[in-house]
Amino acid sequence: MREVDLSNILLGTATAATQIEGGDRANSWYDWAEAGHIKDGSSPVRACGHFERFREDIAIMKSMNMRVYRLGVEWSRIQPERDKFDADAILVYRDLLGELIAAGIKPLVTLHHFTNPRWFEQAGGFTAKDSPDAFISFVRYTVDALKDLCSEWVTINEPNVYAAFGYFYGTWPPGHKSFKETMSVFRNMAISHVRAYDYIHSVQPGASVGIAQHYRVFEPLRPKNIIDKLGARAMTYIFQDMISDTMAYGKSRFPLKRLKVKRGRYFDFLGVNYYSRFMVKGFEPVTKPGTPLNDLGWEIYPDGLKRVCLKYQKRYKMPIYITENGTCDNSDAFRAQFLYTHLAAVADANAGGANVERYYHWSFMDNFEWLEGEEARFGLVHIDYETGTRNIKDSGRFYADIAKEGRITKELLDKHSIKE
Ligand code: BGC
Repeated sequence: MREVDLSNILLGTATAATQIEGGDRANSWYDWAEAGHIKDGSSPVRACGHFERFREDIAIMKSMNMRVYRLGVEWSRIQPERDKFDADAILVYRDLLGELIAAGIKPLVTLHHFTNPRWFEQAGGFTAKDSPDAFISFVRYTVDALKDLCSEWVTINEPNVYAAFGYFYGTWPPGHKSFKETMSVFRNMAISHVRAYDYIHSVQPGASVGIAQHYRVFEPLRPKNIIDKLGARAMTYIFQDMISDTMAYGKSRFPLKRLKVKRGRYFDFLGVNYYSRFMVKGFEPVTKPGTPLNDLGWEIYPDGLKRVCLKYQKRYKMPIYITENGTCDNSDAFRAQFLYTHLAAVADANAGGANVERYYHWSFMDNFEWLEGEEARFGLVHIDYETGTRNIKDSGRFYADIAKEGRITKELLDKHSIKE
């Protein structure tokens, strides 16, 4: 066991609006749940009731010594119809941000995290030619209304996961399976990001703006097999690098069509969401036999976080925020261990030349985990969905101690019975 110095990294947690707020019936995931797609039959309309209980949640965050927090705003609450903005919803977000600031917790706001307002979804979502215009009208309204309280923004969360599941595999809304549509979603999301970046900087020159991208390690299952090697390279490119490069520089990468935006530099930080590794056999992603898995069967591979940080530090040469990293551990049996090994991987990445400035653990509390519903628990804080009661888990106490000390000491590892 080793000590880990984290004094140069701000520690916090991340959530997304639809997954924790509850109460909103105007978004695409509410409709997807109503149509019966969620494995346990739950719906984001319940979630954690955070829209009403945010004061209590922020008090818990403060008691856990958190310094930063990544949260989302729900587009369909703010703009329930194309021509209607809801000033009351904005007031709630203003209260929430004010409460965070008063608690000494710096907010990073995500503008789009998988969910669309129904009117936007019905008009074709991000496949529609005018979708960047619609997105920008929401961004302008929201940023103008919140910019005195927040200067850090994630425009779009995981464009790759959103496009792949919604438009290629068809398991997420709107359930389409079309390569052509997947590519037009990528392209319109890239245009939306570039325009949002420019708009935010025009009204808030000192803002920090980026995306949160889902990065995996893809590796050939048979290291010397040429097909596996090609498969791993192709997946890395098609799933992650093509769209991040396009969004970072406003220059479309093959096979995307030209964006027709000015080339530039459209990331102020690189947001990295890291969860796991895939081995590649032929052109199929598979799980490495014999490796530790979480409760959703995802490989637990801390070294991948270090590898991703080092690789993308070289590629983009900008500060990295780990905008998400966490695991599904329904009984909180290995989350503390996960935290230890992944935070050690971040420290190792920095020792090797990366510049990771933030780490946002996914997630602050158990929440509505998309197709898995309420049954997959990623939280540092336990939610009783029937009563709404919150309880800090043992792993949450460990993380709170780490945040207090700014390091992982031998005493902390002993206190929380963490083993190598
Ligand atoms: C998403 C989160 C999700 C998490 C765990 C990420 O891909 O951004 O919304 O809950 O993974 O599956």
